[in-house]
Amino acid sequence: MPGKKLYFGTNLKMYKGIRETVSYLCELEQLTADMDPENVQLFVIPSYTSLPDAIRSLRHKQILLGAQNMCWEEQGQFTGEISPLMLRELGISIIELGHSERRHIFGETNVMINRKVITGLKSGFTVLLCIGETEEEKNWGISDETLRIQLKTGLNNIPPDFNGRLLIAYEPVWAIGVNGQPASVEYARDKHELIRSTLCEIAGSAGKDIPLLYGGSVNPSNSDELILQPEVDGLFVGRSAWNASDFNALIRSAIHSAARKQHYT
Ligand code: 13P
Repeated sequence: MPGKKLYFGTNLKMYKGIRETVSYLCELEQLTADMDPENVQLFVIPSYTSLPDAIRSLRHKQILLGAQNMCWEEQGQFTGEISPLMLRELGISIIELGHSERRHIFGETNVMINRKVITGLKSGFTVLLCIGETEEEKNWGISDETLRIQLKTGLNNIPPDFNGRLLIAYEPVWAIGVNGQPASVEYARDKHELIRSTLCEIAGSAGKDIPLLYGGSVNPSNSDELILQPEVDGLFVGRSAWNASDFNALIRSAIHSAARKQHYT
């Protein structure tokens, strides 16, 4: 398949224990076995407790595994936190940082997230930085300012060798979860363009190659259109991905849609 690499991932949040995660992964791996990771990168971010079994359960390296959070320190008096060394020992590749639920339920700030991003990159992980404005910020007309602040603080002082190891997920907070309203395709397109130009401001030409994923109520009725938008390189999916065969169908349909775009451009 020619054109840009596409990314499809899911965050399992605080759902699925060890057994359910393993059976989900085995099914997803089987269903997607023909997808070439050179063109389509799949990833799953399960609970911490599922990670060791999740890693053992995958037979190929096509689906990458990630952790939902990480401490910025390697060790110390940080009760309840998980160190980058512990995650590296497990052999996972992605660290998700700054998810809206971490920011808004658990009070993570841009400064905390920036420390984690730096540690994650220095520890050799791929970092998936999540950003997004709240409904209030949208109503106040400051969505763009919020996104720029989250990017500029979140990526402040990152090591220069981040290339190929940084992904951004744009997830408007008001679009996430059972009470979320999916963003319109036009809205998502606008914000992805703003994010792209901000990344180029921060990282120069390397900003053009940082994959941007859209998340927040992605579902089979909006995924094909979303993936068609110029700066949308992938989809970060919650509920619509938690059944392996539904996720497989959504991914295949989006790939098909993206291939048509490349055919006509
Ligand atoms: P939903 O797709 O369920 O809205 O969740 C999106 C999300 O939070 C992915 O991290």
